[in-house]
Formats: sequence, structure tokens, C-alpha cells
Amino acid sequence: MGRLECMSTPLAEVPKLRLPHLAAAKAAGEKLTMLTAYDRPTAEIFDLAGIDLLLVGDSMGNAMLGMDNTLPVTLDQMVSATAAVAVGARRALVVADLPFGTYETGPEQAFLSAARLVKAGAQAVKFEGGARVAAQIRLLSQSGIPVMAHLGFTPQSINALGGTRVQGKDDASAEVLLRDALAVQEAGAFALVLELVPADVAERVTAALEIPTIGIGAGAGCDGQVLVWTDMAGLDEWAPSFVKRFGDLRAALTEAASAYAAEVRAGTYPDPAHSF
Ligand code: KIV
Repeated sequence: MGRLECMSTPLAEVPKLRLPHLAAAKAAGEKLTMLTAYDRPTAEIFDLAGIDLLLVGDSMGNAMLGMDNTLPVTLDQMVSATAAVAVGARRALVVADLPFGTYETGPEQAFLSAARLVKAGAQAVKFEGGARVAAQIRLLSQSGIPVMAHLGFTPQSINALGGTRVQGKDDASAEVLLRDALAVQEAGAFALVLELVPADVAERVTAALEIPTIGIGAGAGCDGQVLVWTDMAGLDEWAPSFVKRFGDLRAALTEAASAYAAEVRAGTYPDPAHSF
């Protein structure tokens, strides 16, 4: 599909999302939808539901693997999750996170790590930071690996930031955020995640950029939104305050597991219809 066709086809009707569709969506004022996915079945479900981008996030560490934060997640874990998500994704663009310790030392380290995710099926990678990772963004973009940047609260810096905190609350830090956003755009990033940023600051950054912004806890003024799927679908008891729960999967799974256990204990499952 050429650039002109991209501009005229509504995003929901695009059979396979590619980078030009994201730029066209921003130009047309169409909101982008992104959810995390860490396995094949959720990727397939979200893809069929029309989610535009699937993020194999290193939030897998907290959401799925019982870790306290994203820091322990390994590249091997991200590679196997990415391969599973890529199987389930037909229309959605698959973006995979570079975990902590796999890109910070320089462009070569970032390229070698990103190449593993691309070989596993990612169409783009995401990593955290602004001007300090501009050289990594530049090399990857020039080498054919699209990069989504990530600013605001950057979970891999949780220790340095003193916990999970809203970023850009005062004029000086909002200014640094804007400068970092312009730096990642200039380096070649195709989109930018803004996490835990005041809505007015996120709106200002969004207006200053040509590339789309995707917010999480950053208000409605971004070009798109992303949520961790387990928060969005109500799988866990707790979710951050900015999350709206669009389902109650915890209740649905509890009900299914309880019904199964009751039937096994009563000897009513398996019945003849479910036996050979
Ligand atoms: O890992 C992740 O899920 C993320 C989102 C919070 C944007 O980076």
C-alpha cells in the first residue's frame, strides 16, 4: 500500500499495520491503540479485536513472571515471548522491548540485542531514554530496525527515579522531557511512549512532534494509548490509578476454575460426551 493510500484508508480497515500507517493516523487525527501481549493466545485475541500495536513489554516481568519490577527480565525471555506474540499477530504491528542491560552501553550492543528480537518476529523495538540513547536510535533506524522511544517514567530507571513517579511536573523537568522528545524524533524514532506525565505536558510534547505519541498515564492528548493487558482486563486485584478496567478476567477465570474443580470432584466431568 502506497503512502497516498495510507492517507485515505481508515486505520481499522488496514489489513496489516506498517510504519506509514502510524504517521498517516497522526496526520488524520485517528487514535492509535496498543496493548501489551506476552504470548500467542492474547496476541491473537487482541489482534482480532483490532488493536493496532502489540507491545511485548518487559512489564512481562511484573505482570507475568512474579518479579517486583522490570529489571531482572532477560533478553532470552523477551525473545521467546516475542516469537509467541508474532505467531498470534496478523494485522497488528509487533513491538518488543529491549530489557535493562541490553542497549545502554552503545549502538553496537543495542543492534545485536535488537536483531535477536527482530529475528524472533518483532517489527520494531522499544527502549527507554532520550538524548542519552540517540546514537542507539540512529544506528538501529539506519540499519532497518524501527525504534519506538520511551520517556517520562522509565521503569528500568526505577531505582534512580526513587520509585514509580509522575515525571515532568515542574517547568524545568517538562522542558527536559520536551528536549528529549525532540532528540529521539531527530535520531529517527518512529513513535514515542509517554509514561506517567501530566496531561498538559504530554499534550504539549504531542503537538511539538511529527511522530505519534502513545500515552500511558499521560492523559487524552496523546496520539494513542497503551495499557498493560492484565491491568486493562482486570486479571490482578490491584492496578494503577490511571487504569480503567475494561473487564473482570480474574472473576471469569475464578468462576471457570471453580466450576471445573466442582465437576471433577463430583465425578460429572469427564462425562461420556468428553471421553473417547
Ligand atoms: O513494558 C511495558 O509494558 C511498557 C509499557 C508500560 C509502555 O513499556
